[in-house]
Amino acid sequence: MDDLLERINNYKTEISDFIAEKAEDTEAFRIKYLGTKGLVKEVMGEMKNVTADKKREFGQIMNEFKLFAEAKYDALKAVTSNNSQAIEAGEDLSLPADQLPLGSRHPISLVRNRIVSIFQRLGFAVAEGPEIEDDWHNFTALNLPENHPARDMQDTFYINQNPDWLLRTHTSSVQVREMEKGKLPIRIICPGRVYRNETISARAHCFFHQVEGLYIAENVSFADLKQTLYFFVQEMFGKEVKIRFRPSYFPFTEPSAEMDISCLICGGPGCNVCKHTGWVEILGCGMAHPNLLDNCGIDSNKYTGFAFGMGVERITMLKYQIKDLRLFSENDVRFLKQFTAAV
Ligand code: DAH
Repeated sequence: MDDLLERINNYKTEISDFIAEKAEDTEAFRIKYLGTKGLVKEVMGEMKNVTADKKREFGQIMNEFKLFAEAKYDALKAVTSNNSQAIEAGEDLSLPADQLPLGSRHPISLVRNRIVSIFQRLGFAVAEGPEIEDDWHNFTALNLPENHPARDMQDTFYINQNPDWLLRTHTSSVQVREMEKGKLPIRIICPGRVYRNETISARAHCFFHQVEGLYIAENVSFADLKQTLYFFVQEMFGKEVKIRFRPSYFPFTEPSAEMDISCLICGGPGCNVCKHTGWVEILGCGMAHPNLLDNCGIDSNKYTGFAFGMGVERITMLKYQIKDLRLFSENDVRFLKQFTAAV
């Protein structure tokens, strides 16, 4: 019985390796394996020598062998009939096949993933929220009540259908949604697409990507914020890069700051990229405003926290020395294919 099994296995290997280029080859395959005097019939004929206790098992093996040969025959037929059409059409089948271009990740995705993974190593979890927001989550809860002048800082797309709806102008709205869940401490980053009604140019677009971060617990201090962002900068841009904080204003943080990094091009003395200051701004940050915590149902006497927000496009442009924001959304493969390497 073992001999028979070995024969079947050998035939199966032969069948797998069989290559047909022309219709004649397929026909030769049919005659050799599936014809009236073919090997499948011959193997089936051995059934009479199989002992009664093994008949059931071998019946199955032979049946499976027959199906195997038939499937291969169908596959060969499909290939050679295509080939003969191609030959009739004068095509040269010995030529190598067309190369299919391989895609690559978009630079914005590469950099966003890198930002996310750096913060994940510090224990931040990713939180996401809707791109169509309501006024409360995008503005009011963030200490930006109606008619607050700081709303002008973010040119907003409103949705006609409902005056309360808008395209989110930042992912701070996701921070609000997480705080409202009431589970503390919170340590999240919020990557996502945001929209602003700006005239499209090399430096502005009507949409871009942000990663915002929020850490709320007991006794969180500005020193924690500084150390967290310093770690991020060193991991993202290199150990030699320095940071500095400048006082700023955001309604949802107090105190607020903008953070600069030492210029990656000149390293300090000044050049065109840093407008001859030696520093480049990369993000906004600050300590969560008590009004924001109270709006979201968090006891501002007990908890403190920090927040920050950065534009992924800006980080990508600095990282790769890209001068025009429009390149990110033009889908020109000559641009996109330059970013296959991990950052
Ligand atoms: N939401 C701000 C913006 O889009 C960026 C920002 C600044 C976010 C400071 C923050 C922050 O969380 O603390 O302009």
